[in-house]
Amino acid sequence: MPATTASPFALENAEAYAIWRKAKLKDYPVTAAALRVEVNDPRALSVTELHRLLQICRKTNMAIYASRLGELADKQIPRRLGEQFGLIRLDSNLLADEDAVTSLQVMPEKSGRGYIPYSNRRLLWHTDGYYNPPERRVRAFVLHCVMPAASGGENALLDPEIAYLRLRDENPEFIRALMAPDALTIPANTEEGGEHRPAQTGPVFSVDPATSSLHMRYTARTRSIEWKPDAATRSAVQALERLLAGDSPHVFGYRLAAGEGLLCNNVLHNRTEFADDVDKGVSRLIYRARYYDRIRGTGAQDA
Ligand SMILES: [Fe+2]
Repeated sequence: MPATTASPFALENAEAYAIWRKAKLKDYPVTAAALRVEVNDPRALSVTELHRLLQICRKTNMAIYASRLGELADKQIPRRLGEQFGLIRLDSNLLADEDAVTSLQVMPEKSGRGYIPYSNRRLLWHTDGYYNPPERRVRAFVLHCVMPAASGGENALLDPEIAYLRLRDENPEFIRALMAPDALTIPANTEEGGEHRPAQTGPVFSVDPATSSLHMRYTARTRSIEWKPDAATRSAVQALERLLAGDSPHVFGYRLAAGEGLLCNNVLHNRTEFADDVDKGVSRLIYRARYYDRIRGTGAQDA
């Protein structure tokens, strides 16, 4: 039996969807504070801390840890935190530091080449690695804040399963369009001096064959993006844009403080612009680790 047969995410499974939907919405948090767990040292969680974070991730696909490490700049923090949740296989990108944990901070040289994560500008809604081929699908990531900006740099976060649920409730045809294998194409990257990346065509929503879980591939950017040029896709994308722009109680706003981090199954996220105050020694630094693994114990089969 193929993994998708009983999946609540397959459109033909109305009954499985109804059961999953009810369970999903039951006691679903409505504030970012409900995602937050105080921990001593994320590199070595206590059993209770780990259990609490995992429990929250199983519900919302994300959790925030608040540690006592403050501004300690140690790349082992996201790495060791991730390891405790089965996050091992790191994705490296063109500009990641050698150990595949990226330091996100304002770097004029990189931002000048159009890499917004290295600038202080706002970041539109997306999931990470939407331009990756399926074999390098980013299933989870960790953000660890060493130092917040002087102002701004807040994230909004939305569980992709909630996005799927809201769209399917509104009109199942939106899901059909967004599950089409040719829904979204990222054209080849011909960035000067960068590694050449071939075009990537794929769905927005898919059932990950490795985990039977829902995977989402999305970016709100409009340049260098090709949506399937038909009315069904256009309507679905507009519905998703409305959802992301609206005031859903399930969109969590959070500004990471020093020593805090986000652990998630590649949830939808954006970031407001921010300002550093270099004279006062304040410049935002976030470590980011992306993984091919999903957080252990959060798969559809673990529900
Ligand atoms: Fe991102």
